[in-house]
Amino acid sequence: MTESYSTEAAHLEAILLVGGQGTRLRPLTLSTPKPLLPTAGVPFLAHQLARAHSFGVRRVVFATSYRASMFAEAFGDGSAFGLSLVYITEESPLGTGGAIRNAARALTSGPDAPILVLNGDILSGHDISEQVGLHVARRAAVTLHLTEVDDPSRFGCVPTGEDGRVTAFLEKTPNPVTNRINAGCYVFQRSVIDQIPEGQVVSVERETFPGLIESGELVLGYADRSYWLDVGTPAAFVQGSCDLVLGRLASPALPGPCGESLALPGSRVSPSAKIAGGTVIGPGAVVESDASVRGSVLYADCVVESGATVADSVVGVGAHIASGAVLRDVVIGDGAYVGPGNELLAGARVWPGVRLPPRAVRFSSDG
Ligand code: GTP
Repeated sequence: MTESYSTEAAHLEAILLVGGQGTRLRPLTLSTPKPLLPTAGVPFLAHQLARAHSFGVRRVVFATSYRASMFAEAFGDGSAFGLSLVYITEESPLGTGGAIRNAARALTSGPDAPILVLNGDILSGHDISEQVGLHVARRAAVTLHLTEVDDPSRFGCVPTGEDGRVTAFLEKTPNPVTNRINAGCYVFQRSVIDQIPEGQVVSVERETFPGLIESGELVLGYADRSYWLDVGTPAAFVQGSCDLVLGRLASPALPGPCGESLALPGSRVSPSAKIAGGTVIGPGAVVESDASVRGSVLYADCVVESGATVADSVVGVGAHIASGAVLRDVVIGDGAYVGPGNELLAGARVWPGVRLPPRAVRFSSDG
């Protein structure tokens, strides 16, 4: 049984890691960092910030690097979220551990305080107060949120002893010893952050956590089976957006009531179009007659012409999908044009501004 921690009373501080380049989500991340990509109608981080606030976090230090200025432009001083936000930028990326150490300059908490650290690309339904409560009750150096996945061979895994102590940080292997993996949300004792070398590239996963375990410090696992998703790949990003719209994860940041889809102000959808599966239709986007859009993210001002099919895909800002084109599990960059008759499948990506000419429809010569 876990003790809950009164994060509200403690005015918990957090560090948010948002400096990564999001390479797996290109071309979407060429112009916008992954944590700012519109997700269920608002920047991805809005969901994380609102949830953090609901667990008593009141001050967040952003550890930025890639396209750093865009974060302050999006969230300002944080008052819209009831938060105080501070932005710290690395001159060159310092990795996850180096970024935490660098951002700690802006913390106000003392050495014995718990500090929440969040990866900026995780959707999680876990109870942050319980994780912090466990950390404080057991006087741990670090307490890691662990989640259970069906196929742990795609991740490094994190075995624990009966008392919850993390015993190792293991690299990816075809035969993992546990299905528990690092879920990207940590509680650090402030003094432990201060021991990370300053101004150097450090990885918490490869250096800090294994080092703490090696030297006998108490690294705890807080394991649960609540909703969890790392939105690092296009398929996961689309799934995260749809899950939020469909209510599979509650978010205080959703811009309004949703059902099978979320149509943002200024969008236009023909009554004969079929929209389903948690699809978001961005502001100014148009979906014409008899088009079918399922489980997808349509960004602002894009057009899906009549009879086109879009499934499990992202269509970038101002992109144009011509009549009869078929998209399944693909990413279309901003301003791209997919001509009539094109069929794009299974992980295809079209770079911003690219024009795919019409494809002739071939008829069988039989008969
Ligand atoms: P990929 O390039 O697609 O792997 O994505 P990514 O750059 O986001 O890397 P990854 O998913 O491994 O990063 C996990 C979290 O740490 C994300 O929230 C990143 O924004 C963040 N992050 C990774 N490297 C750095 C860094 O050097 N500095 C800072 N400030 N954050 C980082």
